[in-house]
Amino acid sequence: MKIIHISAECYPAAKAGGLGDVVGALPKYQVLLGHSAAAIMPFYHGKYSRENEFTSVYSGIARLGHTNFAFNVLELVKNTLGFELFLIDIPGLFDRENIYSYHDDDERFLTFQIATLNWLNQLEGVPDVVHCHDQQTGFIPFMMSKVREYGKFEHIPTIFTIHNGQYQGQFGFDKLYHLPPFHSYFNGLVEWNHQINPLASAIKCAWRVTTVSPTYLDEIGYSMKGMEELLRKERSKSIGILNGIDTGVWNPETDPMLEKNYSIKNISGGKSANKEALCRQFGLDPSKPLFTFIGRLVGEKGADLLPEIIYNLSKFNPGEQNFLILGSGEKHIQNALLHLEHEFKGNYCSYIGYNEKLSHLIYAGADFLLMPSRVEPCGLNQLYALRYGTVPIVRRTGGLRDTVLDIGDNGFGICHDQCSIFDVTHSIQRAKSFYKNKKAFNAIRKQMMQIDHSWNKAATDYIQLYQSLKI
Ligand code: ADP
Ligand code: GLC
Repeated sequence: MKIIHISAECYPAAKAGGLGDVVGALPKYQVLLGHSAAAIMPFYHGKYSRENEFTSVYSGIARLGHTNFAFNVLELVKNTLGFELFLIDIPGLFDRENIYSYHDDDERFLTFQIATLNWLNQLEGVPDVVHCHDQQTGFIPFMMSKVREYGKFEHIPTIFTIHNGQYQGQFGFDKLYHLPPFHSYFNGLVEWNHQINPLASAIKCAWRVTTVSPTYLDEIGYSMKGMEELLRKERSKSIGILNGIDTGVWNPETDPMLEKNYSIKNISGGKSANKEALCRQFGLDPSKPLFTFIGRLVGEKGADLLPEIIYNLSKFNPGEQNFLILGSGEKHIQNALLHLEHEFKGNYCSYIGYNEKLSHLIYAGADFLLMPSRVEPCGLNQLYALRYGTVPIVRRTGGLRDTVLDIGDNGFGICHDQCSIFDVTHSIQRAKSFYKNKKAFNAIRKQMMQIDHSWNKAATDYIQLYQSLKI
């Protein structure tokens, strides 16, 4: 099959979170299964674009409302990714350092989608399937089926994966003219709750909708920022497919970002060496259990609870544990986390920012990884933690519920039901007593490292889904 993925992120070219990891791995595994898979994403002017060489394969114009944007389709000169990657360079919209959070994100990503279809439209032949990821690509299924200019794609199956339904990308009807011309009869297909909404449009128009875990699909039917009814209505064409991880990139035996590589055979020594390096770097005590958090510092991840949890435990159980936080996000959470550093120096530290290398060292060197998420469509952190022998402490929600089983149920993680300070603190206390039983702790580490969460299964599930749509 000829598969095209369209996404705002694709690791290593651009990553803000798990979306980048998924789109950087899934096409690779689909190629390994004997298919042709390519990814199309915007060309941001960040580190990756500065450090790699690209060649232009097409130049065209994308029209957004009354404005024309010139664009170039770029390809890597030396591609070692294992799949084809095309980057759409749109001067004026994407020649910026970051991926998101600009005032004109609506216009940026809509222009990206129009440019992508304009380019594909003039190529010979058509793909067998177009797989779109998250709201930044949400108008593609609509445009492929209802915009006359793209009539060539009318019968091409489209898949839309919801990685995160919290972000919907909606804007007012005053900008309807930004979309390429279509019959007003179809206005309802881009609308939700009196606004233009790319996420809703994709859910309505894609041939199939997938979520990144089965539990998340159930949850969004009763909780997804006002879109529950639509999700329930489209339930029969929706399916939950649990994400995998790229076990080539995330492999403690070969990971170049670690202090010491290790496998199941030398897990204790390997993890200790990484923990010591981490503790040295952050002035922590390696003899104490190390609790960590990696991720976006937002309410969705339960990150707002962390400062109080850390304060209480460090104040009332001093010296019993260490905490290390890596993340960035809401200012008030960042400030609260930074504020604690002085008081609990030696037992607590935070790194505010994004640091890929440090994240790998933390997965390897930590004893426990906290994920008190309010919402977690899949979550990759817990899967990386398992692979690196770090015990995940998770709230039972979304993909966390589907992948982590509590030690009390013969599992390998520590689970709680509520996103509350009490529940997380209780889990940490359980973790500390578990940590003291070195034999059981090591046995669990071994058990976790043997779990196979590679993309093999999910990549096959997606292929089967595409094939079921063949006409
Ligand atoms: P989400 O996509 O919702 O942020 P996921 O668990 O799916 O959550 O994926 C998060 C990905 O981003 C993981 O690869 C994680 O290691 C990485 N990550 C998150 N925050 C940071 C950070 N501050 N520095 C480095 N990596 C990070
Ligand atoms: C989203 C979700 C996260 C998921 C990731 C990759 O960002 O928040 O739970 O793992 O996408 O699908």
